[in-house]
Amino acid sequence: MTVTIVGAQLGDEGKGGIVDVFGESADVVARYQGGDNAGHTVVHGGETYKLSLVPSGAVRGKIGVLGNGCVVNPHTLFEELDGLHEQGLDPDVRVAERAHVIMPYHRILDNLEEDVRSDDDLKVGTTGRGIGPTYEDKVGRRGVRIGDLLDPAVLRDRLEYVIPQKRALIEDVYGIDLASVDLEFDGFSAEDALDVDAVYDRYVEYGERLRDEDMTVVAGEFLTSRIDDGEQVMLEGAQGTLLDIDHGNFPYVTSSNPTAGYAATGSGLGVTTIGDGEVVGVVKGYLSRVGTGPMPTELGPSDGGHGVDAGDEAAATGDDPSAEDLASYIREEGGEYGTVTGRPRRVGWLDLPMVRHAARASGFTGFAVNHVDVLAGLDEVKVGESYDLDGETIETIPSTTERWAQCEPNFQTFDGWPEVDWAAVAEEGYEALPENARTYLEYVAEEVDTDLYAVGLGPERDHTVVLDHPFE
Ligand code: GDP
Ligand code: IMO
Ligand code: MG
Repeated sequence: MTVTIVGAQLGDEGKGGIVDVFGESADVVARYQGGDNAGHTVVHGGETYKLSLVPSGAVRGKIGVLGNGCVVNPHTLFEELDGLHEQGLDPDVRVAERAHVIMPYHRILDNLEEDVRSDDDLKVGTTGRGIGPTYEDKVGRRGVRIGDLLDPAVLRDRLEYVIPQKRALIEDVYGIDLASVDLEFDGFSAEDALDVDAVYDRYVEYGERLRDEDMTVVAGEFLTSRIDDGEQVMLEGAQGTLLDIDHGNFPYVTSSNPTAGYAATGSGLGVTTIGDGEVVGVVKGYLSRVGTGPMPTELGPSDGGHGVDAGDEAAATGDDPSAEDLASYIREEGGEYGTVTGRPRRVGWLDLPMVRHAARASGFTGFAVNHVDVLAGLDEVKVGESYDLDGETIETIPSTTERWAQCEPNFQTFDGWPEVDWAAVAEEGYEALPENARTYLEYVAEEVDTDLYAVGLGPERDHTVVLDHPFE
């Protein structure tokens, strides 16, 4: 069977930790979308593993697959694999031949286009990893796929077609002189990133390494044969529902579909296989966001976060001193700084209209609530239950970002719970949680109308209380 793990909010909900907890029973862990914009953390045995591309199951020695729906930067992949070897792991990672490759010009374009957009206040606050430009080339039918790296003649043809177009886009449309662009990524200057020979030479080498290490697969065939053999497959979503290109708050989104429907398309498993399995949403007990876009329950600015510069700490705390203190408290307690970029994350209260939207969009069969320990010690904990919009009360999010930014949250307030020995609570089980924390969790489960499968009480693997195991 399959278990699909999906972020229910704006990314960084603790998906890596939940994949690690439930992944015990999996044979294979596959990613189906996104690339090294993800930053998934697994903490076990005093060691912290930060994974951008390698599926989190690697920490437990599971086979990892980067599905056809992913965009793969080979430089990051090999660097990450080397780093994990240094941490004592020996990851077995396969990459879909149909996955698209992030090329150095994609990273240059991602960063230049953010600058262009910021002139019109449209900056997304991307991770700068080239994600959007790579998916654009996939849909525009001018991308390079992993399989193309294995055939140098095809790779050269693709590069000779696409690189002059990218150069013209930068020079003639954006009017930027490449020689003056002071960016360097993965050892490529801007000039080299737009040079066919320089890119070709390096990417042929990546292709050779992929072949030598027998890393490429036809993901759908590989995964389906595992399922046919009775193995368990976990699908690890990256980002979150509100960052989904279709179901998120466009245009402040990533360029892929983290929602569960894409677990089929992006892995090559059939929709019936995914649908026969479980879909587990991951919720952080509050809210964090690294990029631009509205956030009605944000502790801070009154403009709904619309147009707020990504990662601007002042913006995330606004000018209300009590909100500022609360946001800083939660940010420090929760370590709310981007795993990929180190940017301080914006912080807000849990937003139920958002989670209801996520539960419906992916069809959650269960969900996990993380970071319950981070909220400990507060006098009261709030939850955004519904929104007021144009004199009406609504329970889910409007379809446009502009309307969403106008939503005023209605809060439920809960008595806080004390800081306790979370490791001991996790060992004892759900009933050992402080009563007020259970009241809050049961309210959330009822409002989202989904079964609570796990509660996160700390970053460590054994700081998670499991109520129901999706593989069992
Ligand atoms: P992901 O992108 O969804 O995998 O999440 P990240 O790894 O980017 O961010 C989650 C952060 O919170 C990481 O540092 C985790 O180790 C940590 N974390 C996960 N679950 C919990 C939890 O229940 N409590 C606390 N305190 N930290 C957690
Ligand atoms: P994980 O998997 C949080 C955000 C960026 C930006 C927007 C688009 O760790 O939860 P992109 O580089 O994808 O084009 O950026 O999406 N973003 C994330 N935010 N967690 C992530 O991944 C994210 N991946 C992208 O900050 O707002
Ligand atoms: Mg993350």
